[in-house]
Amino acid sequence: MTNSKRKILVTSALPYANGPIHLGHLVEYIQTDIWVRFQKQRGHDCTYVCADDAHGTPIMLKADQMGITPEQLIAKVSEEHQRDFAGFMVGFDNYYSTHSPENREFASLIYRRLNDAGHIARRTITQAFDPEKQMFLPDRFVKGECPKCGAADQYGDSCEACGATYSPTELKNAYSAVSGAKPVEKESEHFFFKLGDFEQFLRSWVDRHVQQQMIHKLNEWFDAGLQQWDISRDAPYWGFEIPDAPGKYFYVWLDAPIGYMASFKNWCDRNGIDFDEYWNAASETELYHFIGKDIAYFHTLFWPAMLEGAGFRKPNGVFCHGFLTVNGQKMSKSRGTFIMAETYLKYLRPEYLRYYFAAKLGSGIDDIDLSLDDFRMRVNADLVNKVVNIASRCAGFIAKKFDGQLGDKLVQPELYDDAVRAGESIAEAYEKREYARAMREIMHVADRANQYIDAAEPWVLAKQEGREQEVQDCCTLGINLFRVIISYLAPVLPQVAEEAAHFLNLDSLNLTDGFEWNAIESPLLNHRINKFKPLMQRVEPDAIDKVIEDSKQSLAAAAAAAPAQKAEPAQEPIADTIEFPDFAKVDLRVAKIAKAEHVEGADKLLRLTLDLGGETRNVFAGIKSAYAPEQLEGKLTVMVANLAPRKMKFGVSEGMVLAAGPGGKDLWILEPHDGAQPGMRIK
Ligand code: 2FM
Ligand code: ZN
Repeated sequence: MTNSKRKILVTSALPYANGPIHLGHLVEYIQTDIWVRFQKQRGHDCTYVCADDAHGTPIMLKADQMGITPEQLIAKVSEEHQRDFAGFMVGFDNYYSTHSPENREFASLIYRRLNDAGHIARRTITQAFDPEKQMFLPDRFVKGECPKCGAADQYGDSCEACGATYSPTELKNAYSAVSGAKPVEKESEHFFFKLGDFEQFLRSWVDRHVQQQMIHKLNEWFDAGLQQWDISRDAPYWGFEIPDAPGKYFYVWLDAPIGYMASFKNWCDRNGIDFDEYWNAASETELYHFIGKDIAYFHTLFWPAMLEGAGFRKPNGVFCHGFLTVNGQKMSKSRGTFIMAETYLKYLRPEYLRYYFAAKLGSGIDDIDLSLDDFRMRVNADLVNKVVNIASRCAGFIAKKFDGQLGDKLVQPELYDDAVRAGESIAEAYEKREYARAMREIMHVADRANQYIDAAEPWVLAKQEGREQEVQDCCTLGINLFRVIISYLAPVLPQVAEEAAHFLNLDSLNLTDGFEWNAIESPLLNHRINKFKPLMQRVEPDAIDKVIEDSKQSLAAAAAAAPAQKAEPAQEPIADTIEFPDFAKVDLRVAKIAKAEHVEGADKLLRLTLDLGGETRNVFAGIKSAYAPEQLEGKLTVMVANLAPRKMKFGVSEGMVLAAGPGGKDLWILEPHDGAQPGMRIK
């Protein structure tokens, strides 16, 4: 590791401007933010930019459905995204939008350069067209029956029931997901980026700039042959019009990565920084993209090829990460584990999650699991019982007996030196994004510090006459070890670090940053510290239960906000399938709604008293957005009768009623007819 100051530009993937940030997204932003904070702490010139990915058909249609303009939608979502990122202490230097003048300019420039160099082809293709909406339909907006298994309502590119992939023209009884009309086939001229022109370049580039674990996947792509990439879409489309091609627009994925440049340019212009120094073909600055493995094709093939073809620098690294599972399974709305950033922050401190992700993250593409029990126990054991405890065990004595003054020597200098020396390996682990290793090594330093304090027993010494000096010595070393540990944890726990900097009175040291990486080489001696305030509370099981319960409750609202559409490419985890014996276990019964009532304090729930023909059940149902209680009383519906009772915030729910619809007002309980009687089983 050299000591010279590096100039580093870092990005995370640009989130789509049509949905909220959830914990799955946060793996990446937290991973990136830790790396950036670490680089800054090391004294490097590191800039972190991001933006909303604001173009494309889903955003256009969503705005349409909401009765607002796409500009209004992206402005609203941008605000929400920035609020959530700030809530998790993700410290972008610039957060921008791909719908910006800078991005239009760079997209046009790159396209012109590629076109002038002969890397753009044009040809006519046939596509599904919605005759009612007068628009071409992306594959995911054509639905119908799977050509293989016959499952209804499948998307135009793949079947969620049997996993088959196909083209939209193969669907049976196809319909437009936008208008419901039967699509027709229509021709139009499209523009293609000739990716194959860059095969030689890419083969050698990926070897040096992409993780080993990804190379295998990339070789598969090379072996399959690099196809031309369709970069144009026909009007109506929400994006940038292609220069000299009226009615043709850049496909959202063409201008999305260019958004990295645009966000940085916007930052440069506002801060007097030389954009070209970072982006010229021979730039000596460093550029890194953190992304999920699902969008590797765009970042490891299309993007470097576009940059190469247009005469710009290429990234030094594209760092792919895996997906997040919760309690060992895909995030699930029904289990309450599809957790929005906003929901988490209502009940839990962001740094708990930052630490837990750090403790789990390696440099590879393996998925990481947020096991909620493990999360609570780990944070409590490591951060509260181990790290913060060091300070709380020593601070009181220094305050009370020595007026906040630390002693003038370290009684066991080798213990302190060892802790400082551990920093080399910890820094190497951060640099290589091996955060789990970094956290292990930091906790090892904390264990040593606690062992020292356990053995020295300042609380015993404090009661004995004439041993004051020993108390001060012991606590001086303890506080100094605490400072070293918090310095190592500062990239992960920015707010704890800030509060600890105040407690340790680091401002008085005249450093640009209290936790400058090398500052710990000089211990705090003859130094006055401030009053200690508890830096972190334990995670209580109750708070986690509330997150889950709230996430379940938000289900109807979230469904209403994200109706029947998928982002491009698939963003939401696909529902798990179950086997027939699992289905057979579900006891569906006709129930009469004997009573329906409002629940005080609940926005979405109604309390239903259900009559099962002799037996009554109390069920909370998230259907308040669609029904007033009086509309429900006396109606028959269908309930899952053998669902284990669940303790909810407002009481115990003894089953579940079935409802269907996109959500909000459009949600209907199932109403059996044909002589249905309360208690009747449904086969
Ligand atoms: O997959 C996604 O969420 C995309 N919006 C990521 C874009 S990253 C970059 F290319 F802009
Ligand atoms: Zn199928």
